[in-house]
Amino acid sequence: MEKRKILITGASKGLGLAISQKLSGEYTLILHASKPESFTNIEPGNHILCADFSDPEAINSFCKQLKKEHGDLYGVINNAGVTYDKPLNYQPEREIDAMLNVNLKAPILICKTAMKIFSLTQQGVIINISSVVGESGNAFQSVYAATKAGLTALSRSLAQEAAATNTEHKIRVLSVSPGFIETDMTATIPEAIKQKYFNMIPAKRFGKVDDIADTVAFLLSDKASYINGTNIHVNGGLI
Ligand SMILES: NC(=O)c1ccc[n+]([C@@H]2O[C@H](COP(=O)([O-])OP(=O)(O)OC[C@H]3O[C@@H](n4cnc5c(N)ncnc54)[C@H](OP(=O)(O)O)[C@@H]3O)[C@@H](O)[C@H]2O)c1
Repeated sequence: MEKRKILITGASKGLGLAISQKLSGEYTLILHASKPESFTNIEPGNHILCADFSDPEAINSFCKQLKKEHGDLYGVINNAGVTYDKPLNYQPEREIDAMLNVNLKAPILICKTAMKIFSLTQQGVIINISSVVGESGNAFQSVYAATKAGLTALSRSLAQEAAATNTEHKIRVLSVSPGFIETDMTATIPEAIKQKYFNMIPAKRFGKVDDIADTVAFLLSDKASYINGTNIHVNGGLI
């Protein structure tokens, strides 16, 4: 049987890299990062499709190329994300735009492209990587948290939309909300704040990239065929 084809955005490091390593072999992968140089190693048989999502024109070109070259797409992991943590009062508009474009506009347009492709076979899975703060909120992450809340609402709505337009289909749309996971994104958080988070985690450890990659691999598989239109928290009990 031919391998299913999966797009993973932000696959050069952190969660995206761990997800790509977990899915490699079972699936054919389309790996995305902001630029090709972000990748150090590409498994033979996988594809590279890069774009800087802070630029709306680059998102549009990316989606056009995705549709043109990968009409057999089966799954999408919308994982690329950025955060610029500071009080909203001091947040420059360019940072607000970058978070809106990378974290929300790109996933929305990629979902639109994927849903068009999925409509041909009435099957496919989208997993949008949200965040615990999309539900809890977090001081100095107002815009980031808003984009992540947007992804959970997008996922729920699209799952309903797939059913509203087709009574018989195998399309699922989900979001996953990681808690505090050790990656480059959390590496620069000051120790005192890390300790504050640590004290709030009943599991008494920070998350590892494989905690998320294992969850994504399961949700993507047919074993999760009845999990749809919901948000899965992977946070050690943080909320
Ligand atoms: N780490 C956590 O604790 C945590 C918690 C909750 C949610 N999340 C979410 O999980 C996802 C992955 O986080 P991470 O911790 O793995 O982050 P990371 O290590 O900083 O990796 C971010 C990925 O996104 C890509 N990216 C960044 N800016 C981009 C842009 N302008 N255009 C296109 N791609 C861009 C990066 O590509 P380049 O290498 O080319 O820059 C990289 O592949 C994010 O959506 C994040 O919000 C993380």
